[in-house]
Amino acid sequence: MPATRTGAAGAVISGWGMALPDKVVTNHDLAETLDTSDEWIVTRTGISSRHIGGSTVSLSVASGQQALDMAGLTPERIDALVVATTTPDRQWGTAAMIQEQLGLSCGAYEVNAACSGFVYALVNAHGLIAMGANRVLIIGTDTLSRITDWNDRATAPLFADASGAVVLESVEGRGQLLGWDLDADGSASELLWAEVGGTVNMEGKEVFRRAVRIMMDSAEKSMRHAGITADDLALIVPHQANIRIIQAACDRLGVEIERAAVTIDHTGNTSSASIPVALAEALNAGRVADGDHILLVGFGGGMTAASAVLRWGGTS
Ligand code: COA
Repeated sequence: MPATRTGAAGAVISGWGMALPDKVVTNHDLAETLDTSDEWIVTRTGISSRHIGGSTVSLSVASGQQALDMAGLTPERIDALVVATTTPDRQWGTAAMIQEQLGLSCGAYEVNAACSGFVYALVNAHGLIAMGANRVLIIGTDTLSRITDWNDRATAPLFADASGAVVLESVEGRGQLLGWDLDADGSASELLWAEVGGTVNMEGKEVFRRAVRIMMDSAEKSMRHAGITADDLALIVPHQANIRIIQAACDRLGVEIERAAVTIDHTGNTSSASIPVALAEALNAGRVADGDHILLVGFGGGMTAASAVLRWGGTS
């Protein structure tokens, strides 16, 4: 980390990347060992298939390298690495292993806010930049397949593995981030949790019921801070937990679902990776132009919620 402020308080995303494990598991594959069906899973969740495999370190190195390459940065130019994950490969040091494998020479640490983790990390990284860092690599990765009970039909169809990354660079002026919100409601912690070393426990119906509310409360705060309304949004990048939750969120915002980035059909719920992967897919598809307002919004175990409004381009 630089010891002194550069004077630049704003930041822009200058590169991004994503990584999905090679192995694809379809609903039909799951139905071979679980009392479930493709029809049930698609109708209730919107998921058709998911990618399973890899480690949090290996997936992070893959997405992180892509983001560095796109930003045109050599490793020594990165001032900090922030890794959002709720499934670190080890109790500690996962970010440091990623740092070493990417050839970085900066501080590296994990942020765990479950499926809200990437937005927490993004806000965190903006704080580092406001304090003098010039370039921060942010990676959101989860390997939820390692903490999923594959005999539990209530959770096994939902969770999967992936990684997404962005490079955040300081700029003169305000940068892209117009508004943000980080939220938590510990009274709901028993609805979605995992013992250290254990598997996911979930009260699905209640999580569903609260998800839309906690996400939308957060989104409304971010939009208010940014001085915009939902009508101004060109793209919504929601956490990919259930297509019905995404639909309900869009209904609450009063925008058509076509404005949302949706990957859940082929990724399932990949927790900290969900939002950066959906963002990377939308950017790669050319869905975002300079000046567009983007809402990132997630929720997850804790329960946590987080959101951010970005104006793409945004160097002034
Ligand atoms: N295949 C077939 N049937 C299943 C099933 C499966 N995989 N999982 C559950 N069922 C059955 C249930 O046993 C129940 O049967 P019953 O009516 O005979 O009791 C029936 O389907 C309905 O179950 P229910 O839990 O009410 O379904 P739902 O419509 O609430 O959908 C979830 C279940 C989990 C898909 C949904 O509640 C959800 O997405 N919740 C949010 C979870 C989430 O987002 N978690 C991550 C947050 S980051």
